[in-house]
Amino acid sequence: MAHERTVRLGVNIDHVATVRNARGGALPDPVRAALLAQSAGADGITAHLREDRRHIRDRDMERLKAELQVPLNFEMAATEEMVAIALRILPHACCLVPERREERTTEGGLDVAGQSHDLRPRIARLKESGIRVSLFIAADDRQIAAAHALGAEVVELHTGAWCDALAEGRLDEAAAEFERLRTGAAQAAGLGLEVHGGHGLDYATAEQMAMLPQIAELNIGHFLMGEAIFVGLEAAIATMRAAIERGRARLAQENGA
Ligand code: PXP
Repeated sequence: MAHERTVRLGVNIDHVATVRNARGGALPDPVRAALLAQSAGADGITAHLREDRRHIRDRDMERLKAELQVPLNFEMAATEEMVAIALRILPHACCLVPERREERTTEGGLDVAGQSHDLRPRIARLKESGIRVSLFIAADDRQIAAAHALGAEVVELHTGAWCDALAEGRLDEAAAEFERLRTGAAQAAGLGLEVHGGHGLDYATAEQMAMLPQIAELNIGHFLMGEAIFVGLEAAIATMRAAIERGRARLAQENGA
């Protein structure tokens, strides 16, 4: 199957807002981080406006939309409140995620199959306003089929379970999780969906994800911001881009290109 030569890198800046909010002031400014990421080679910026506003705030989203040249990916729960904000801000894309107040981060994929009644009209309204709709789901055949049936243009496959298993040395489980991602990416692309991946990725796992031919975009936040503490955001993004390119080069080599 034909695939894009490169994989887009979406940089998630939520954690800059987390550090800002820890002191209640205006610094560090997540929009400054987004602009720096853009100039360092990010193909897009992702920000998650959570219901509890624990990191990104409404004003951050407005400023991101006004100041960025690269596409803004507005991550949000599929609630009426968030749909209304997205329709006002008009980002390039909305990535619909599950959200529970007590979770530390987005823990599982969206249950698209179980929530289609609520999701269908909200997805339709976002699409009618020209917003590209992505659904953050587990690489599960039922969820992928449901995402397609609901009219989403993109699925973002949840890479967290794979990354956690690898990090904790559960290698058999990691191999099974990666196989699920491989199969899911092929299934989704076969249905005409654009395939993204994200959650918990680092240099090595991003490189491996880039070897899946259907992957068009990877969204990465926490690891990059952690690296930025030590090497700076520009260097972390450059190293990540190189890892992704390495993955694509290895894929081309395997295909005999
Ligand atoms: N993609 C989605 C849909 C997410 O919810 C998150 C976490 O906010 C990410 C990507 C980025 O994950 P991480 O911060 O672990 O790189």
